[in-house]
Amino acid sequence: MTRGRTLAASILKQVEAGRRLDVAWRESGAEDSPERGWIRALAYGTVRLQGRLDHLLARYSDRTLAKLDPPVRRALRMGAFQILEMTSVPDYAAASQSVEYVRRSPARAAAGLVNAVLRKVARYGWARSGYPDPAVDMVGHLTAWGSHPRWLVERWIAAFGAVGARALVDMNNREADTYMRPIGTSREEAVAALAKAGIAIDEAEGGARAEMWIRLPSRAKPADALAATPGIIQDPAASLVVEYAAPDPGSVVADLCAAPGGKALALGERAARVLAADSSPSRLSLVSAGWRRLARSGAAPPRPWTVVADARFPPVARADAVILDAPCSGTGTFRRRPDGRWRVTAERLRSLQLLQRELLDGAASAVPPGGLLVYATCSLEPEENWCQIRDFLARRRDFRIDPGSGASRCVDGRGCLRLLPHESGFDGAFAARMRRAG
Ligand SMILES: C[S@@+](CC[C@H](N)C(=O)[O-])C[C@H]1O[C@@H](n2cnc3c(N)ncnc32)[C@H](O)[C@@H]1O
Repeated sequence: MTRGRTLAASILKQVEAGRRLDVAWRESGAEDSPERGWIRALAYGTVRLQGRLDHLLARYSDRTLAKLDPPVRRALRMGAFQILEMTSVPDYAAASQSVEYVRRSPARAAAGLVNAVLRKVARYGWARSGYPDPAVDMVGHLTAWGSHPRWLVERWIAAFGAVGARALVDMNNREADTYMRPIGTSREEAVAALAKAGIAIDEAEGGARAEMWIRLPSRAKPADALAATPGIIQDPAASLVVEYAAPDPGSVVADLCAAPGGKALALGERAARVLAADSSPSRLSLVSAGWRRLARSGAAPPRPWTVVADARFPPVARADAVILDAPCSGTGTFRRRPDGRWRVTAERLRSLQLLQRELLDGAASAVPPGGLLVYATCSLEPEENWCQIRDFLARRRDFRIDPGSGASRCVDGRGCLRLLPHESGFDGAFAARMRRAG
């Protein structure tokens, strides 16, 4: 099998074993391959459309997909994805490479089955696969064609209505744009520096100039953009959370779940000093690495103090503003992390809720009278967002919502920041900015 496909298959194997796709991708070495874009399209696309592919493969195979050996299932998914979604790949190449993959695996006896199923895929495409009609069965449609777990689809239809849930699922199945947020330099200077480095920015999109972020062309390598001008790669949703948090200029900020550090570095532009804490030492090292990269470009904010700590027991007695960007289900980021949809479960959601509650109580203990507490997630689920804040405010009557004036265009009637991917085109996000009574 070609090197690109071998790498993609090994990434998929790791994801099946429970590894996060972005981690498997980073560690695979594929990022340095000249075929980077192609391998990424195959690996990420196969995970993203796994539900849609499985529905089709189940139709064309006389064996239940769940009962097939893992290499056979993987070869079928990868082969079908190339045939149906990668126009640059001839059907015969996609099929024969999948057959070869299975022949070299312990499941070699299934090579004939893979060949037969992929021939049918090439002949009939998506057309004959009998996806549920959205007018008759929206849950079935969004589960199979939309490639999302049924329980999430049901939950989102209840929350956003059928039209909203469909728009969200469609959005999750698109490639996300890459955005850069300049740091220590103006947006105009950054755009000029990018142009000089051969990265021309399309400003046609209305209003983009007024924002702090820059949308990179799809062919631009983020590393090249960061080499051309100081900044971080960050979705506008995260930039908006920082804008909403708006700690007072010159204040001391404690970011208690800081890694990998995008928000901590952006907060550093306003704050006198940022304490960046996280319970994961390896992830925390990314905060320092990010700061060093900015420092090399001569535009770094003050170096954040970094400390490995559990936010339930904050490593600081008090800070003017405490930021809690809590671990969450990440249901607002399925475009960028397509494996997230297969990983999250109702049970995991419940255990995250309990953790977030404890984290909030811990973080609040470091907020002095008159200080700020900002809770944020990249989840769309009310239990992790408003319900969490409602319960916190009932426990801690000395805190109240204080939306300030940052990112006011995204603030809801309760004073919380709320972004939905299908409405904003950005990642989903929630944040509550609360002030402790003085
Ligand atoms: C949503 S991410 C934070 C993203 C970060 N704020 C940024 O902008 O790059 C959540 C982080 O919380 C950390 N975390 C999980 N449990 C924690 C705990 N009990 N105490 C502190 N950090 C924790 C994870 O390691 C993860 O880095």
